[in-house]
Amino acid sequence: MYPLRRNRRLRTNEAIRSLVRETIITPNDFLVPLFVVEGKGVKEEIASMPNYYRYSLDLLEKEVKELWKLGLKSVLLFVKVPGNLKDNKGTEALNPNGLMQRAIKTVKNVCPDMLVMTDVALDPYSSYGHDGIIENGIILNDETADILAEMSVSHAKAGANFVAPSDMMDGRILTIREALEDEGFIDTGIMSYSAKYASAFYGPFRDALDSAPVNMKNIPKDKKTYQMDYANRFEAIRETEMDIDEGADIVMVKPGLCYLDIVREIKNEVDVPVAVYQVSGEYAMLKAAAEKGWLDHDAVMMEQITAIKRAGADVIASYFAKDVVKLIS
Ligand code: PBG
Repeated sequence: MYPLRRNRRLRTNEAIRSLVRETIITPNDFLVPLFVVEGKGVKEEIASMPNYYRYSLDLLEKEVKELWKLGLKSVLLFVKVPGNLKDNKGTEALNPNGLMQRAIKTVKNVCPDMLVMTDVALDPYSSYGHDGIIENGIILNDETADILAEMSVSHAKAGANFVAPSDMMDGRILTIREALEDEGFIDTGIMSYSAKYASAFYGPFRDALDSAPVNMKNIPKDKKTYQMDYANRFEAIRETEMDIDEGADIVMVKPGLCYLDIVREIKNEVDVPVAVYQVSGEYAMLKAAAEKGWLDHDAVMMEQITAIKRAGADVIASYFAKDVVKLIS
């Protein structure tokens, strides 16, 4: 066909490139993770996540207003639970006046239209740093799912629009859906962490919430009996299809960059929105390389976010959300 077809014609200048660009990033793409702590006037930088913070409720208000002004309309809440409130069953998670429940109300109060999603898992509440109840060294599946359902109802009561179970117990989406329906929360959605891999990229997040598995006898040292083996591909599709059958409104692949092959396959396979979580370790890697002057922070950030959307993400949970939106606005 050459020279009838010269592909470079569509690349000659920015005007033509932008005219034919397939993937455009906007504030609507993002879900912003937020870390909440007890206290007043607290804005603590997370050591392994430069320029990312934990906020006490008063400063969370300020942050949420700023996000809204930037056009960021969805948040995903995580709480750092004081050590003395943690136990094996995550009892504190069900406290109607717990930090998560207060955080939901705080966000809804300052910004009623902000979409509030909440993390549903035991690990921030677990004295062992696991996403489930432990008995004789085993993570109990069904007993954990029952607590996650109660937790979801408690978040819905506080005003959450969506619950986001990140635990990877079997059957928990159905258990949660039924509990929400029973309590009349028919419009509370579920974003399921459907294909969540046992990844070494979660390290900085576990620093942020002080939620890493503890090093104790008879406590599993990793999450490999519930999170997926990163060598597997078909399993991701199976997990995702099961979650949709059980009632998930949005499914998720996590982490992001190393798993974009999975994102594309799932996007091609399912007809519900697909979320991708660009996790803490991915954030930390770029921040560290940029700090050393080895990578151009903004250029690499945009390349990564665009790649995630190009792979099929309808929703991107990312610690870069604010940076990206400031850059493109
Ligand atoms: C907890 C949870 C984790 C993340 C989100 N929810 C950590 C884990 O599974 O150990 C990780 C997010 C990140 O690394 O940014 N269930």
